[in-house]
Amino acid sequence: MESNNAAQCLGEATEPTNIVILGAGGDLTKRKLIPALLKMLRCGLLHADSKIIGVLKGRTQEQWLTGLHKGMQEYSPEIKLNDQQWQQFSSMFSMIEGDLQEERTYTDLAAAITSIQQHKNALFYCAVPPRWYTTIAAGLDKAGLSDQSEGFRRVVIEKPFGMDIDSARQLNNELQSLLDESQIYRIDHYLGKESVQNLLVYRFANSILEPLWNRNFIDHVQISAAESIGIEYRANYYEKSGALRDMIQSHLMQVMTLVAMEPPVEFTADAVRDEKIKVLRAVRPIKPESVSQQTVAAQYGSGTNAEEAIKAYVAEDDVSAESVTETLAGVRFHIDNWRWQGVPFILWTGKRLPQRVSEIVIRFRKPPFNLFDTHANPPTANSLVFRVHPDEGISLRMNAKMPGLTTDTQRMVMRAPYAENGEDVSDAYEVLLHDVLTGDATLFSRADEVEQSWSIIEPILNEWQHRISVNRYRAGTWEIPGMEDLFADCVGGWHKPS
Ligand code: BG6
Repeated sequence: MESNNAAQCLGEATEPTNIVILGAGGDLTKRKLIPALLKMLRCGLLHADSKIIGVLKGRTQEQWLTGLHKGMQEYSPEIKLNDQQWQQFSSMFSMIEGDLQEERTYTDLAAAITSIQQHKNALFYCAVPPRWYTTIAAGLDKAGLSDQSEGFRRVVIEKPFGMDIDSARQLNNELQSLLDESQIYRIDHYLGKESVQNLLVYRFANSILEPLWNRNFIDHVQISAAESIGIEYRANYYEKSGALRDMIQSHLMQVMTLVAMEPPVEFTADAVRDEKIKVLRAVRPIKPESVSQQTVAAQYGSGTNAEEAIKAYVAEDDVSAESVTETLAGVRFHIDNWRWQGVPFILWTGKRLPQRVSEIVIRFRKPPFNLFDTHANPPTANSLVFRVHPDEGISLRMNAKMPGLTTDTQRMVMRAPYAENGEDVSDAYEVLLHDVLTGDATLFSRADEVEQSWSIIEPILNEWQHRISVNRYRAGTWEIPGMEDLFADCVGGWHKPS
């Protein structure tokens, strides 16, 4: 297909593949997967001989394709796609009408793949709730679709990978009894974000950061994901999950491992993941009696944001009026190893906050002696901030002299936007789908990482499950009870996004 935009085409070429989306009638498919596949195709990162096979029920192929087309126009208006281009793109699609519980669905799928003469590679994307993962893996296995003798067979699943340590282990065991671990790609879309990967490049492709990257120079690290949206239409999931499970156990702990890990011996999936798991193993277990000092949980009440009236969490559809589910969570971790002893890592996330900002803040220690302290505007500690979104990039906050005859200081921010002049920053799904197609599992969570991160937060979950009330914050504000205390002994305190 002809490209009508100047997208970058950097990336390893992929083999023709059957991209099978199980649960292809859902939101993820139209919002994320199909736009990502189209962009990849235009960039030459999806082989033009690939096929996209949707498995769903209750719709004809025509209805399904019409829904996808509408979804593209609604959710991805930046992708300019005229009718002729859509016709051309949709000719790659076919559909299997079937129930995921029925054996026939998988035999039909196997027949469809067998009928394609040119290639037998298959990527199975489970765009369904996690309770289906084992059923799908068993169906694929029984129909011979996990057998890799004629082409690769890879299965992609999305979080949550369990709801606690026991269910995570059970899911891993079930999947590993049907598939080889190397066939399982556990997506954490945060790791697909360009700026998160850029963190590794900044750390390991430059020599000025690593000498400072330790307890001798760094006071603490803050990793955050503030969101202005609420729970949208996901009350049933969110009521059982809450912010700690939804964001900290997965995305933010994964980011923490990248900040804290030692340089891997090579940039390969297992070398990187071996270093990440070492970080998780070094996280100090949180004692039950310390949970209240090391964590914050709160829930949004009603409020306003950008003049929009926001209803309280408990007034959302399908949320119990007595709900104590946290929509904001913060946890203070310690990593017991030589590099990080004594350096708190504070991870926090919340919904219905004033802005959508996700950042990694490396806060350095104060200078040992302050010459300029007596002036009106005393110097502040240096921070290196990695902006995950929006405005991906890195900034260094330093102190500089104010112009004039005094030695008064002022804060100076040196910014390096990641993409200059509005260049395309790839969406996480493009990056991750491309990685699955090329068999690069570096940015995917391995079973041991998932289990280890659940076991780290298990003591918090155990304490929180007995709570009968939860602190409230006003939607659209940064006034979160207990948040400042989490940073009480940290140089410069809580870095509120701005
Ligand atoms: C998801 C969470 O994994 O990540 C959502 O389930 C959250 O609750 C989302 O809103 C945030 O992702 P992003 O890319 O918008 O920061």
